[in-house]
Amino acid sequence: MSKTYNIALIPGDGTGPEVVAEGKKSLDAAASKFGFKLNYTSFDFGGERYLKTGETLPDSAIEELRKFDSIYLGAIGHPDVKPGILETGILLKARFALDQYINLRPVRLYPNVETPLKDKGPEHIDFVVVRENTGGIYTSLGGATRVGTQDEIATQLMIYDRRTVDRCIRYAFELKKKRNALNPKYAEKPITLIHKRNVLTSCGDLWYRAFEEMGARDYPEIKRDYNHVDAANMWFVKNPEWFDVAVTENLFGDIITDLGAMIQGGLGVAAGGNINPEGVSMFEPMGGSAPKYKGQNVINPMAAIGAGMMMLDTLGETKAAQAIEAAMIEVMKKMKSQAAGKMGYTTTQVGDMVAGLV
Ligand code: IPM
Ligand code: MN
Repeated sequence: MSKTYNIALIPGDGTGPEVVAEGKKSLDAAASKFGFKLNYTSFDFGGERYLKTGETLPDSAIEELRKFDSIYLGAIGHPDVKPGILETGILLKARFALDQYINLRPVRLYPNVETPLKDKGPEHIDFVVVRENTGGIYTSLGGATRVGTQDEIATQLMIYDRRTVDRCIRYAFELKKKRNALNPKYAEKPITLIHKRNVLTSCGDLWYRAFEEMGARDYPEIKRDYNHVDAANMWFVKNPEWFDVAVTENLFGDIITDLGAMIQGGLGVAAGGNINPEGVSMFEPMGGSAPKYKGQNVINPMAAIGAGMMMLDTLGETKAAQAIEAAMIEVMKKMKSQAAGKMGYTTTQVGDMVAGLV
């Protein structure tokens, strides 16, 4: 009997539904080729639903999502909804409630994809950022008082406990171990902790000690490095080839992964996973809802296809994931650009071409 995976689809807003539709083509092609089944159930969470019903992601939806093997998300974001409502009500709520404590962001430049970095090619840009995804400033502990007066005070605390730090660092070391075994080029490079321990002397120190202790005790064969986050920004641009696995806390990870997305060719190609290694994970293209491109068949579905590829990999369908990646690489070689409207193909053509090569 073939294995069946139950996938919750949240196409979402703007161009989300278009790119999810294209991603599904490759997922289905991989499923039939590698002998497993994907069973999709669609949910209409997003800006449109919020504007109609006032509901973002109700608790009952979280309970329902828990029953799935994985979640495949298009984009959340609507021009008529005030910033913050959908982000906290849907995306962050899902991350926290489903305890998706890793935000995995591969930063890989594929052949023929343009990077703004001069003199850098695919051989220089091939690393992964492991961003802690449930803690830090994102816990939103704190508040404001005397709002609107000259004496207004606002706080938002960077909260971390040892368990949250340890489980993230454990994931990063295990990933590094896997990559080292995969490719000797990776094994030469260190795992890098990114923080700001020269200023954040309590949180930074917690992360640093947790990283050093676990590394020395459990992964002595893996080289370790440490960068302050401001310096890491410089090195991502100047020497991206120094990085293989970089691990960091939530807000720093948010910031540096947007830089990572740009050096790998932009939002048309960057994908990410919100991962609970013991539970339900959620995969998404990084691009957002791009409302101005909605319905024009010009948005690049490659990031969504890449998110699908990551989903299969996380589900354990490694060969299927590799087949999708190989097909993506072939199609990228034919595309003029990875930017919306400049690909030389339509959204559906790119989706069909990738699926056809899986
Ligand atoms: C991301 C996004 C989110 C974040 C926003 C939309 C809440 O920027 O996934 O990186 O800050 O984590
Ligand atoms: Mn972000």
